[in-house]
Order: sequence, then structure tokens, then C-alpha cells
Amino acid sequence: MIAIGCDHAAVSLKNAIMAHLEEQGVEYINLGTDGDPCDYPDMAKAVAEKITSGECELGILLCGTGIGMSIAANKIKGIRAACCSDCFSVRYTRLHNDANILCMGERVIGKGLALELVDIFLSTPFEGGRHLRRVEKIKALEN
Ligand code: RB5
Repeated sequence: MIAIGCDHAAVSLKNAIMAHLEEQGVEYINLGTDGDPCDYPDMAKAVAEKITSGECELGILLCGTGIGMSIAANKIKGIRAACCSDCFSVRYTRLHNDANILCMGERVIGKGLALELVDIFLSTPFEGGRHLRRVEKIKALEN
């Protein structure tokens, strides 16, 4: 199960991603906003809590730049949110960082690239091994 949320600056991108997930039979929970103006930290919290509770494995957060969402989500213990706009970074943030939220900016990238980034994010596993030790050190920083 995927958690997805956005602020008012990224509703159109979120709709495109939800349609894409439906086409692929990927289940998701939409935490909004579906148009009403909102503050991105509230949406970041809603999506992050779906992951820390175990209800969802991965999340997608969208705002104008993706940056505000990533800053906010990374304040929550257990969240490793990566703001990405290229395929290589998305692949490696799953392989090496075990990122659990992908953040993107509707004002930064086009829909075609965003859908490709989603596909990479959802299909790339964490590599583990030496990277597990490093992710454990990230977790230690939270305490
Ligand atoms: C909203 O105008 C904008 O600030 C927000 O979507 C995001 O880009 C923040 O990082």
C-alpha cells in the first residue's frame, strides 16, 4: 500500500500519479489535498504517519518544489524522504538509503518524468549489506 499526498501546488501531478497507479493495479491511500489550499507540513505528517504506523510501505509527497515536503517529512522519526528529479537519484535512494518517501515538485518536473520516477521508486529494492549499516547510523541520529 502506497500513501500519497500533496499541497495545492501539486494537485494536478498527484491526480496523474494516482491514475498511473490505478492503471498498474497499485493500491494507494490518498491523504489529500484534492484542491483546497493547505500547509505542506500537515500533508507530510499525514503521509509519514501512514508509513511509521506500518499501514503503508512507501509514500509519495508532492508540492511546488518537493523540497518543503521533504524537509517536513524528514522531521518524523523513521522517515527517509528523498526529493528527486532524476532517475539515477531515485534508483540509488532506494538501493542505498532505503528511502521510504519520494518527494517531487510539480513546478520542477513534467508529468512524464514524474511517472517514470514513481515506477523506479516503487520497483527498486533496498540493497542492504554495507548500506544497512549506514541506514542504521541514520536511525541512530534520530535518538
Ligand atoms: C506553495 O506555494 C509552495 O511553497 C509549496 O508547494 C512548496 O513548494 C514548498 O516547498
